[in-house]
Amino acid sequence: MKLTRLRDTARPAISLHLEGEAVAAMRGDTLLTALLAGGAGHLRESEFGDGHRAGFCLMGACQDCWVVVEGMGRVRACATLAQDGMKVRRG
Ligand code: FES
Repeated sequence: MKLTRLRDTARPAISLHLEGEAVAAMRGDTLLTALLAGGAGHLRESEFGDGHRAGFCLMGACQDCWVVVEGMGRVRACATLAQDGMKVRRG
């Protein structure tokens, strides 16, 4: 899954890393938006064996967007603000 930005594209740029790869994002993005708009594709594997997961509810309820952020531990990507320099691993 790749999100496409349709509006609000003039915010300052930030950069984070997913699995060591640079991801371009914008200040004010949630981590989920930053990763999916940056081409992450997916955030984790389903523990029930049905493949890649990339968030579902986008509001902190489904727990489908867990990632691990250096210095923060396991967080919901949809409920975490993206910050410049974040180092993220798939959850
Ligand atoms: S997308 Fe549902 S909790 Fe994050």
